Amino acid sequence: MRLFMYQAKKPTAAGKPAQYADLIQQAQGLLGDETDGIANAANLAALIYDNLENLNWAGFYFLRDGELVLGPFQGKPACVRIAMGRGVCGTAAARREPVIVHDVHEFADHIVCDSASRSELVVPLIREGALLGVLDLDSPDVGRFDEDDRDGCVKLAAVLLRRSRSF
Ligand code: SME
Repeated sequence: MRLFMYQAKKPTAAGKPAQYADLIQQAQGLLGDETDGIANAANLAALIYDNLENLNWAGFYFLRDGELVLGPFQGKPACVRIAMGRGVCGTAAARREPVIVHDVHEFADHIVCDSASRSELVVPLIREGALLGVLDLDSPDVGRFDEDDRDGCVKLAAVLLRRSRSF
């Protein structure tokens, strides 16, 4: 049995790229050689939520019969099903590219799960050309997410996709 000790780290003056580099290393250690996608997604959601500051939701939606269905997450209960092309999640999934929403009040089709959310980052999960779902981060702060967050979360999603057999 592999013993595991987890300790949240706080951001340093080194900035976001260094914080994500550290988080990616932690994610690799946390997932280890586990291949169960749901277990890995649950732990990755917890790792992200516990380490990135100013989040009110972090988690996954997985593609099931053509729509996005809620997966493991941290934060308040959320809407269960999102159609492709709808909301920030469905938009990122349909475009197959990350979407940063600076202010959700200015994104006409934003789906409100927690009224405290003011900005959002969604990264699609794509493996060998197949869309498997999305990673979704919400913040109560306007403009919380930038290109460093996008690049860091794309890499975190890649760790999940590499290690997990299916979701
Ligand atoms: N706001 C998202 C819905 C999911 S929740 O934020 C957890 C959207 O517009 O797709």
